[in-house]
Amino acid sequence: MRMTLIRADLDTLPAYVPGRTIPGAIKLASNEVSLPPTPPVLAAIAHAAAAGNRYPDLAVTGLTARLAEVHKVDAARIAVGCGSVSLCQQLVQATCLEPADEVVFAWRSFEAYPIVTQIGGATARTVPLDADFRHDIDAMAAAVGPRSRLVMLCSPNNPTGTVVTRDELERFLAAVPADVLVVLDEAYHEFVTDPAAAHGSDLLDTYPNLVVLRTFSKAYRLAGLRIGYAIGSPEVATALRKVCSPFSVNSMAQAAAMAALDDADNLLAGCADVITERIRVRDALVAFGFTVPPTQSNFVWLALGAQTAPFATHCLEHRVVVRPFHPDGVRVTVSTPEENDAFLSAAGSFSG
Ligand SMILES: Cc1ncc(COP(=O)(O)O)c(C=O)c1O
Repeated sequence: MRMTLIRADLDTLPAYVPGRTIPGAIKLASNEVSLPPTPPVLAAIAHAAAAGNRYPDLAVTGLTARLAEVHKVDAARIAVGCGSVSLCQQLVQATCLEPADEVVFAWRSFEAYPIVTQIGGATARTVPLDADFRHDIDAMAAAVGPRSRLVMLCSPNNPTGTVVTRDELERFLAAVPADVLVVLDEAYHEFVTDPAAAHGSDLLDTYPNLVVLRTFSKAYRLAGLRIGYAIGSPEVATALRKVCSPFSVNSMAQAAAMAALDDADNLLAGCADVITERIRVRDALVAFGFTVPPTQSNFVWLALGAQTAPFATHCLEHRVVVRPFHPDGVRVTVSTPEENDAFLSAAGSFSG
């Protein structure tokens, strides 16, 4: 019998679709901050690059200690990864062993979740968002069964921008068995202003099965450097380090992240501008007649249904790249006032 070289299920693996970069067009497709890293961060990257002939610190010692200080936790509770998307995959690898083992997540949510679940050889169990484009926490708790190993909660949710509240997170954690790992993916945490929103770090001491994911890709403007981290119990952090590709957190990323933490006041001040702009952008879209949930992130969601592809094409014709998610809607990054105006001008002239 002929054997196949590559495992057959990879034929059905959905591809991660990156936001398109088109020369001369405004890219609002990847939820990046449009400003470059700040000067001290660029200096730290250049300094680290000069020692690029050496392997990076495998244990990410300096940054881990710095993050432990920032979050007031023991360093043993932190695992740094090559972007938080890599940590998502490591979480599946660390928890799921059998094909029937389940990863539960809302849908639509971050497009990497189904991909890392399948790569990890596990089964995805998805729970539809509610009518307000929010996680349906009670339905998710009901979906957790004997084969569930991992739950991914995304707050603010990519791509809809809605948050899980603290009450909802507590209700969920109280309902879920202690041997199911619950991940709160907080990639957009720095943009959250809703006082009712959950902050995973508040509940880590109460729930050892909770793990929080953070990234330097968004507010800290280091998406191209690839660095994020998890905070959880020492047991979970140790497991994440075990399944990490050795040396995948490179020296430039480690140095840049430390310099970004030193420059945090400056970087986080930039988030305030996005927060002001997201209200203006959403208000304008709603006035045009689009369905746009209130967002707690640096992007807005247009629930366009069948109009998703025509809208994305229309924006492209106006030199604005947005991110369509067929067949549900379009996600658009909130950027500078000028870039947002270009998008709003395109959106306002869409006739459907
Ligand atoms: C919800 C969510 N989690 C994780 C990530 C991945 O971030 P990173 O660049 O740290 O891999 C993203 C990136 O868009 C995201 O939207």
